[in-house]
Amino acid sequence: MRALITGITGQDGSYLADFLLDKGYEVYGMVRRASTETFGRIEHIRDRINLVQADLLDQLSIINLVEDVKPDEIYNLAAQSFVPTSWNQPVLTGEFDALGVTKILEAIRFLNKKIKFYQASSSEMFGKVRQIPQTEETPFYPRSPYGVAKAYGHFITINYRESYGIHASSGILFNHESPRRGLEFVTRKITDGAARIKLGLADKLHLGNLDAERDWGFAGDYVKAMWLMVQKEKPDTYVVASGQAHSVRNFVQEAFGHLNLDYLEYVVTDPKLMRPAEVDHLLGNASKAKRELGWEPKVDFKKLVQMMVDADMERLRAEKK
Ligand code: NAP
Ligand code: GDD
Repeated sequence: MRALITGITGQDGSYLADFLLDKGYEVYGMVRRASTETFGRIEHIRDRINLVQADLLDQLSIINLVEDVKPDEIYNLAAQSFVPTSWNQPVLTGEFDALGVTKILEAIRFLNKKIKFYQASSSEMFGKVRQIPQTEETPFYPRSPYGVAKAYGHFITINYRESYGIHASSGILFNHESPRRGLEFVTRKITDGAARIKLGLADKLHLGNLDAERDWGFAGDYVKAMWLMVQKEKPDTYVVASGQAHSVRNFVQEAFGHLNLDYLEYVVTDPKLMRPAEVDHLLGNASKAKRELGWEPKVDFKKLVQMMVDADMERLRAEKK
């Protein structure tokens, strides 16, 4: 089997590549041209994967890519994925996260409708939640240009499934984290910040809204759900979540507590880090994924936080040396 992953240099792309290689897949990754390489997360598998240049902004580059690689499965993980940036660059976010999806679906429709497709949809689409917990049936109310763009990507995936019979699935994934998470996302910012304070490399950590609640899981568990969706006989939409919500404050307490630090001495709230419109509470119900895909997460909240803090401690200790 041959899989093409867009966004292979990102957190999820790197875990999915690890997972598919273990399953014996030939893995191709789409990368965009940059003046310096951003391959840190896939360095350990660099000689086992094939990297091919294309860009979500360029339709012909996507068509050429799909024609050259001839994948059995495409996982579309590439996106402008940072919510605050989507207010500063709403048009670009729409180009990547909304129209970018159509470009890949068009390539599939044009070249080979048998290619199976996975779209990385997001719990951000639930935004100002209409129901608790959120399921596949919960209506969307996105609160950021990112969430709006992802809602388009979700519905165009369903539309190509229904219009052209393409095996196109959409995974509505709730927040998932890991030691490979980008440093600007709150979990990694906290674990990196706590480790820096512990090692005497920083004395404060500036954060925004500590009351927001998220349903956090481990990225390594969540990429398995993507693969399971693509293996199903019929394409569908699935919520993937841990089923537990924690506040940012809980995450901070757990991370600082793991290092025997009292977060109240170090965390400063900064109004500049508040968002123009916030998603206050996310909590997913993944019963359908558990029932129909047999998916079960292995890493719980406490284990996730500790894994991330330990990894940041190890990295920063080595850097300090
Ligand atoms: P990430 O770490 O930010 O990775 C994003 C990837 O997209 C990077 O490989 C990036 O490449 C690539 N990319 C961005 N713009 C591109 C373009 N124009 N052309 C080609 N590649 C482009 O994100 P992630 O956390 O792994 O998330 C993966 C996907 O799942 C995203 O679509 C995200 O929106 C979605 N999602 C994530 C979560 C979560 O909690 N992590 C939850 C729900 C949905 P560069 O290295 O070149 O920047
Ligand atoms: N990034 C960040 N930085 N967030 C902060 C901070 C801070 O200093 N302080 C508080 N927060 C709060 C945000 O206001 C938000 O409510 C919450 O922490 C989580 O923020 P992020 O970690 O940036 O993630 P996100 O929930 O906005 O988006 C992530 O999850 C989505 C799925 O729900 C991203 O991975 C998206 O790509 C993904 O779709």
